Amino acid sequence: MAATSPADLARDPRALAGRLAEAEPAAAADPGAIRVVRAPGRVNLIGEHTDYNEGFVLPVAIQLGIAIALLPTDDRRVEVTLAATGERAGFDLDAIGPKTGSWIDYLAGTAWALAEAGVATRGFRGVLASDLPQGSGLSSSAALELASSLALVGGALPPLDRMTLARTAQRAENRYVGVNCGLMDQFASAFGEEGSALLLDCRTLEHRAVRLPLDDVALVVCHSGSPRRLETSAYNERRSQCEAAVAVIAQTEPGVTALRDVTPAMLESARDRMDPLVFARAEHIVHENERVLAAVAAFAAGDLDEVGRLFYASQASMRDLFGISSPELDALVDIAAGVPGVYGARLTGAGFGGCTVNLVRREAVDGLRDAVLRDYGPRTGLVARVFEVVPSRGAAVVHG
Ligand code: GLA
Repeated sequence: MAATSPADLARDPRALAGRLAEAEPAAAADPGAIRVVRAPGRVNLIGEHTDYNEGFVLPVAIQLGIAIALLPTDDRRVEVTLAATGERAGFDLDAIGPKTGSWIDYLAGTAWALAEAGVATRGFRGVLASDLPQGSGLSSSAALELASSLALVGGALPPLDRMTLARTAQRAENRYVGVNCGLMDQFASAFGEEGSALLLDCRTLEHRAVRLPLDDVALVVCHSGSPRRLETSAYNERRSQCEAAVAVIAQTEPGVTALRDVTPAMLESARDRMDPLVFARAEHIVHENERVLAAVAAFAAGDLDEVGRLFYASQASMRDLFGISSPELDALVDIAAGVPGVYGARLTGAGFGGCTVNLVRREAVDGLRDAVLRDYGPRTGLVARVFEVVPSRGAAVVHG
């Protein structure tokens, strides 16, 4: 039998179920009880760091994700083996300790948050496989939280509406893992739809699918090959700077409770009272919110040149005002901008390394790949990876 790579296992529920049966005699004895759950990663098209400012985001759940094959048990133990390395970790559902700094924290944190939400959890033996590059801004954490949510109730959708499910996963990350993230990633992994991006109003939680013209254009991710640096501390620092801006503006505008409420004119009138760096951070958020809505309107009008222009404006703002780009991400955007048929490019996710997302005419995808493979190495000394991502459905039971 040909060896199946961990990435292949993540895409092949039957093979992953087979791997669990090989590892766990109890699963082999009762193969009909095996379930496989899967949750996607995401790329964000536009709207970066706007989620925790109660603004707008436009993510896409992608075909890459995390799958868990599991055998539910009645012993309150969760034991999971990583298909990639054979590493095994676990915890007791009735005695979830403090975080350990490893991947098992995401499962333990999700179990903790589900219990807090009043959901009955179950033990299981599982094998976990991923085809989502980790730590690259494609939301492997949210995918793991969402896949865990389904695994922890015996391999089913928990009895929560999908928004509550997403918020429970976010709570696991905020309160247990300790990253002060917004809702975008968990929302995208829960709500993903084939063929569409998802517009979310992070204040009202209203959302809707935004159809993408995928016959004509592809979404292409360029992975910089540089891991995200200083991510948690710098991320939490950006959040504090946004809150500092709100505090200054609220002195004269008592209705303002988040940067979502701030117009460009309000921000300008607070300039003299604000630290210049805090001002720059706020300026990014205020205009980024406008760009999300403009991008949705441009998609609806079929104006892809305008969407591309908004991508580049967002990238410049993240580089110059919000300070979350890197020389490598700038190089990737710069190379893409020189390729005919590329409408726009920008970093996606938290920043500080990771990936760019590119909106590209289908016939130009090879040209983009060739340009990146030719020019990125000499400019940065790193090797980039270029792949198309496809809008895909959200977390689901895929076997059993
Ligand atoms: C990370 C966080 C999200 C969001 C993005 C930036 O992915 O998890 O909540 O803030 O960064 O847009």
